[in-house]
Amino acid sequence: MTRVAVFPGSFDPITNAHLDVARRASGLFDRLIIGVLNNPRKGPLFSIEERVALIERCVTDLGEHVSVDAFDGLTVDFARHHGAGFIVRGLRAVSDFEAELQMALTNRKLAPQVDTTFLMTALEYGFVSSSLAKEVARFGGDIRPMVPPPVAEALAERMATEPRV
Ligand code: PNS
Repeated sequence: MTRVAVFPGSFDPITNAHLDVARRASGLFDRLIIGVLNNPRKGPLFSIEERVALIERCVTDLGEHVSVDAFDGLTVDFARHHGAGFIVRGLRAVSDFEAELQMALTNRKLAPQVDTTFLMTALEYGFVSSSLAKEVARFGGDIRPMVPPPVAEALAERMATEPRV
């Protein structure tokens, strides 16, 4: 049996915490598709094309069974589109749990055949989030412990051209 999973998210941008989850999931599933939600209404810092390209640069070492794809609409439809029976989400702390439980139960109602699996992020990335990485980068702090090198570079470049809001 082939086990296929999607790992959905905004990934604006991908962080070391996301990458850690992707790495763990890549060892558990035969195919892993990292799904980048096209969410222009959220006002992302990076375009959908930029987010996909950054992730692609960061996951090359995970193997050919790991791919990246953009999606619109429901995560369960994205999972069905790829023939995935699993949704992967990372948990950093108890504070993530409530929202994740709500999402997992909603997704189960929408698609009972798709199961959500949670992976705990490594302890050292428990504090990392895309929004904090953007905030630290905006004020010139060191983001290297939070994001992979291509993202640190892209964030520094973007912040150099963005006004400080
Ligand atoms: O990285 P994020 O922002 O925590 O990811 C949230 C995401 C993209 C997984 C979630 O917002 C999502 O699944 N959006 C797609 C719309 C959807 O399926 N909604 C119903 C399930 S809550």
